[in-house]
Amino acid sequence: MANVHVLDHPLIQHKLAILRSKRTGVKEFREIVGEIAGLMCYEATRNLPTREVEVETPLMTAKCRVLAGKKLAIVPILRAGLGMVDSMVSLIPSAKVGHIGLYRDPETHKPVEYYCKLPDDIGNRQVFVVDPMLATGGSAVAAISFLKQHGCRNIIMMNIIGAPEGVEAVQKAHPDVEIYLAALDEKLNDNAYILPGLGDAGDRIFGTK
Ligand code: PRP
Ligand code: URA
Repeated sequence: MANVHVLDHPLIQHKLAILRSKRTGVKEFREIVGEIAGLMCYEATRNLPTREVEVETPLMTAKCRVLAGKKLAIVPILRAGLGMVDSMVSLIPSAKVGHIGLYRDPETHKPVEYYCKLPDDIGNRQVFVVDPMLATGGSAVAAISFLKQHGCRNIIMMNIIGAPEGVEAVQKAHPDVEIYLAALDEKLNDNAYILPGLGDAGDRIFGTK
């Protein structure tokens, strides 16, 4: 699939196995969502531009590379996307964080917007949209469209688990967006939950069920 990167790193896959287990409790689930997000961030930022700088070590001058190009922003889709933010911000402390609040209507499975707060200069930033689950793709497509309305042209999507239906929806609506996944699962069930998936990510992160 064009623009889709499934990260098969052993550490990511090992942690994902723990995340999927119904026996994993809230504390461990939340911690591992963060750990996977950090590892995925490492891969999803691989192609960021860098520039050369000279740094004085205690011994001599070293030619080093630092991040260049656009400033970064991390945009979690509330609520579950919040679980991926802290580890990313600790790796990229200069990134600003915007929030887009969407929930899936339980009947229609369509996204409903309830909150949005973005950095003023979001349109000039390289944006990472984060959400553990990409199911029908409705939430992701809506969030990305919203960011584009605010001028964003450089958007990367990071989901821990994606369904083929969701990937296809994002690719169709936003062919310019690269998608990073820890796993591409089989399909959706009749309630638009991902199979085999991990259940409801938001509820498992925040202990609401
Ligand atoms: C979940 C998940 C995504 C969305 C994915 O959120 O975190 O945002 O569903 O489904 P979709 O691809 O079919 O749109 P949910 O609506 O359950 O809200 P929550 O994060 O507040 O639990
Ligand atoms: N949202 C979730 O949290 N899990 C799914 O499987 C689908 C949507």
